[in-house]
Amino acid sequence: QNDMSTVIDYKKGVKHFIETAPDMKKLPPDFVLPLSANPFSVSYAEIPVIDLSRLAESSESRISTVKAISSACELWGFFRIVNHGIDMGVIEEMLKVAEEFFDLSLMEKMKYSSEDVMNPVRYGTSLNTSKKHSLHWRDYFRHYGHPFHHTFHLWPLNPPNYRNVAKEYLEHIWELAMKIGSAISEGLGLDNGYIKKSFGEGFQILAANYYPPCPEPEKTLGLAAHSDHGALTILMQNCVNGLQVKHNDQWVAVDHVPGTFVVNIGDYLEILSNGKYKSVEHRATVNAQKTRISVAVGHGPELSNVIGPATQLVDPTDEIQYQPIVYKDYIRLQQTTTIRGKSALQAVR
Ligand code: SIN
Ligand code: FE2
Repeated sequence: QNDMSTVIDYKKGVKHFIETAPDMKKLPPDFVLPLSANPFSVSYAEIPVIDLSRLAESSESRISTVKAISSACELWGFFRIVNHGIDMGVIEEMLKVAEEFFDLSLMEKMKYSSEDVMNPVRYGTSLNTSKKHSLHWRDYFRHYGHPFHHTFHLWPLNPPNYRNVAKEYLEHIWELAMKIGSAISEGLGLDNGYIKKSFGEGFQILAANYYPPCPEPEKTLGLAAHSDHGALTILMQNCVNGLQVKHNDQWVAVDHVPGTFVVNIGDYLEILSNGKYKSVEHRATVNAQKTRISVAVGHGPELSNVIGPATQLVDPTDEIQYQPIVYKDYIRLQQTTTIRGKSALQAVR
């Protein structure tokens, strides 16, 4: 038998790779990750559930919901939102065009392949293909969202309705992020427009992840442990489970609940809150039977903003915990480390 790793062009993606090797029974060695434990030997956890409709109700229910969000941020860094006001149809359409994108011909997808982590539209695979390290069982497609006029003209023209569906989805998600951001601002004791204001023009990025069925899923991951660079990520997925969250130093599996979104805080919010809220590591497992698709949308400040703690949250007698850095440079730093985890955040401390 040939050593398969010598003939695989990984940059084309895992989906393409398994289509060319349909009888594969063993995971090629390049995909075997140095895991300290079987990623499936974890317990299940219910993350806090937030009823978002209560933010708009009487001041009493808003106050209690702000408190619930604040404690979810502090204890978990993750929560599930229900009654978020986004139609199931909008969510399903987005999932459908994401799936259709991955089903395009390899040539069509490769048009968006790029080594530049800051490319506004990018198709790729694994975690970081520019450096030598173990591969991950994932293909992705990502592009910038809000403010749309900067990059909308660069989004794919195939599938034909991709642009319109993704724009509608991202508009709704942006609004949702602002709503949650105002509650989080309030919970931090800041003006409720604080986070939005700190964003300036703001920045939004959509990442569609495609995790095909995998032989020997216990030996690899779709996505290794990482924290997100932005303020808030809003995650949606098809009905195949795979998300795991680090909680009290243990990995816990978070199952999908149809019609809900999972929200998590990222490094920018840890920095802005001066460490009151911590961004939380998460990862994705893969499985032998089904393709998992997730769509994660990140929200943060405009790329040229210098990011640092809110002055109101810094005790003048304390040392500044996080060094100021231009957000774009921070993203680049975070996206080019091979050991993800929270190493980028450590570098600015
Ligand atoms: C992500 O962290 O961007 C995606 C995680 C997932 O696929 O659930
Ligand atoms: Fe993430």
